[in-house]
Amino acid sequence: MMENKNKRSDFSYRYLVDKLAAGETLQREEWRALLEDTDAGHEAYLQKVAETVTARNFGKGVYVRGLIEISSYCRNDCFYCGLRRSNRQALRYRLSADEILACCEEGARLGFATFVLQGGEDGGQGDEWLAAVVGSIKQRFPSCAVTLSVGERPEAAYRLFREAGADRYLLRHETANALHYALLHPKEMSLERRLDCLRGLKALGFQTGAGMMIGSPGQTADCLLDDIALLEAIRPEMIGMGPFLPAAHTPFAGKEAGSAAMTLKLIALMRLRFPRALIPATTALATLSPTGREDAIRCGANVIMPNLSPLAVRSKYSIYDHKACTGCESAQALKLTEDMLARIGYHIVYGRGDYEKE
Ligand code: 5AD
Repeated sequence: MMENKNKRSDFSYRYLVDKLAAGETLQREEWRALLEDTDAGHEAYLQKVAETVTARNFGKGVYVRGLIEISSYCRNDCFYCGLRRSNRQALRYRLSADEILACCEEGARLGFATFVLQGGEDGGQGDEWLAAVVGSIKQRFPSCAVTLSVGERPEAAYRLFREAGADRYLLRHETANALHYALLHPKEMSLERRLDCLRGLKALGFQTGAGMMIGSPGQTADCLLDDIALLEAIRPEMIGMGPFLPAAHTPFAGKEAGSAAMTLKLIALMRLRFPRALIPATTALATLSPTGREDAIRCGANVIMPNLSPLAVRSKYSIYDHKACTGCESAQALKLTEDMLARIGYHIVYGRGDYEKE
């Protein structure tokens, strides 16, 4: 009997994975069945199919982006984030335009063709100032792509950034379930505004990144199903997913971290559903699990974002506790990343790595 039941569930799990791999979507309850089934054999099958689909689309190449954390000041008060404004213990810094350009200089020397400027929503780095910084980077490195990740800004600001030459914008939606969103954020923030920003960014022609934390407090399977539905609706070019990790001196300091296995499953599923998407192996996953980066690559992630920030500020950009920043995370240690990738049969691609439709 037991054996029969297993066979039946083998059949349906594989059937659903194969359906995704064939370019079809699933019903909500089918997605749920995949999320809730944690059978190791099933998950191994999903991983293998996701790896095959990734190879068909990108070969064994992994894109690298140089991450520059431009400010640890933030006006927002998200309950999960170590940089929230109420965190008096957070160490604050703000890079100058010259410091940012020096990071790009170093990055270009190391071979990076994309710079990601990420920071809190810092009023001290205003829209015009940031647009000017983007302009200087594009002038100095015309063949490089610039990605911004500086939160919710007025549409006019996004337009300025675009006109200055910014190519991409990362703005995770964090959770697509409005009730869950309200559990993670203070009441002055709203999912609707976040989605408006995402739609505005897409309309302006940014390659746009959305994404969610996995295992954040209060997250249920239904929240993840809402996330999948939202991603299907907005079709972002990039999808950033990492486990929730507790951050000291935040309301969620004592909460349990998200799971690496669930994060990897979502990476594999989103790879199948969005075969051309740019999906990073996140630092949060590498922080949670020593093999997080390579596991993510083998599940369909195709982007790594080593840290190019000045060494002196890296530990101050403390979104969550124990952030990995010494090994593959460091842009100066690209050789480690190359070796790690070689061990699993992959290699770095030193190009801009723009999103391309089939
Ligand atoms: N754990 C994991 N990820 C976090 N982020 C913010 N705080 C945490 C945390 N405690 C993620 C958010 C944000 C990105 C920059 O970092 O998804 O969009």
